[in-house]
Amino acid sequence: LSQITDTTFSEEDRSFMKRALELARNGRFTTSPNPRVGCVIARPSSNEKFKSQIIGEGYHLRKGEPHAERVALANCTEAPIGATMYVTLEPCCHHGATPPCTDAIIDADVDRVVVAIRDPFHEVKGKGIETLRENDIQVDVGLLEDECWFENRFFFHYHTNKKPWVILKAAISLDGKMASKTGHSKWITGDTARAHAHEIRAETDAILTGVGTIIADDPLLTSRMPGIEELKIKQSTRIVLDPQLEIKRDAQVIRTYNQAPIWIFCHDSAPDYAIQELTFFNASVTSVGGERQALDLHSVLESLAASGIQSILVEGGPKIHTAFLESGLANELLLYIAPKIVGGSEAPSFFLGEGVELIDQAMQLDRVERTLLDQDTLIRGILRR
Ligand SMILES: NC(=O)c1ccc[n+]([C@@H]2O[C@H](COP(=O)([O-])OP(=O)(O)OC[C@H]3O[C@@H](n4cnc5c(N)ncnc54)[C@H](OP(=O)(O)O)[C@@H]3O)[C@@H](O)[C@H]2O)c1
Repeated sequence: LSQITDTTFSEEDRSFMKRALELARNGRFTTSPNPRVGCVIARPSSNEKFKSQIIGEGYHLRKGEPHAERVALANCTEAPIGATMYVTLEPCCHHGATPPCTDAIIDADVDRVVVAIRDPFHEVKGKGIETLRENDIQVDVGLLEDECWFENRFFFHYHTNKKPWVILKAAISLDGKMASKTGHSKWITGDTARAHAHEIRAETDAILTGVGTIIADDPLLTSRMPGIEELKIKQSTRIVLDPQLEIKRDAQVIRTYNQAPIWIFCHDSAPDYAIQELTFFNASVTSVGGERQALDLHSVLESLAASGIQSILVEGGPKIHTAFLESGLANELLLYIAPKIVGGSEAPSFFLGEGVELIDQAMQLDRVERTLLDQDTLIRGILRR
């Protein structure tokens, strides 16, 4: 991220960009594979009390629909000549599903564009900013860059590293257990925490679990967030890691193939008849290498990235979570902690692994947020590399 001095931007700039970021968040369930972008257009006010006032604002809703900049320009209550545009991502300069935003900005005759962060997408990557500058528009880059990166971390990670952003999500007890010693786990957390998890499901492109969880809990893995159908929010693709294709043919994820896609990853050694059977039941089956009982997660993520999956919510049991943590492929953690003590050395903990010898070797979270969800606490953060 670029170094910005405190004097580059005014307090007013900061408050308009904050508003643009708030607008960008409105697209969090619908924009993928496009980024979430918000835009505010402001100009000097005739009222002396305020230096500038907003004359137009907008956000991007979904691929194929107008970008935030064009929505904000169309919403302007007066001509934007000489105004400043605040946008959370570098404006595009190429013909994609919609025409270049730089054309619309140049035609609108704004004086200045404040951009939070450069677009890593290969067709843009600084060219949008260059185009505006070549047309004598002042462009200042880097305001709330970190916040705007965070809002679009799936998109940035995908375009920069060619891998999906991986969030590990688990409900645990105070003593870190994901289930009791008998494998019982319904329900560790309460209604509010579970409703929150349904929102996260609706935000991510895919939900992934292991065959262990499918056998133990027979989950649906769809989002039941209120309004999901009315808002035309796409259900995430459901992914099961099942090396030897042990999943029951009448598992809920198979029976509900028409509610959301179901993709199963198996090992190269899985029997052909099982692949054919599951394909017949409308699952898409992909075989990858690795150990017979533990698929190579790098190959799984590569294959998912090639299918355009930018974000994955992992809702596995302890084995899958441990595999993601040990392979260094997890980016973010979402732990819903219930004020309960389960006990039992046989009851599985969230992280099994070898464990570290010294506390300073422990995996560490950054950007930690804590949220109270009735009696439960959500702790989320980004895993430090
Ligand atoms: N509290 C919660 O949030 C929560 C959420 C989900 C599940 N659970 C609980 O977790 C328990 C199930 O846990 P689990 O660990 O058995 O299930 P899991 O983590 O969902 O699935 C584990 C299975 O995934 C397969 N697998 C494929 N690739 C793998 C890899 N690279 N590394 C590891 N495994 C891989 C293996 O199948 P093979 O055995 O065929 O090799 C493995 O046995 C249940 O009691 C369930 O209720 C709790």
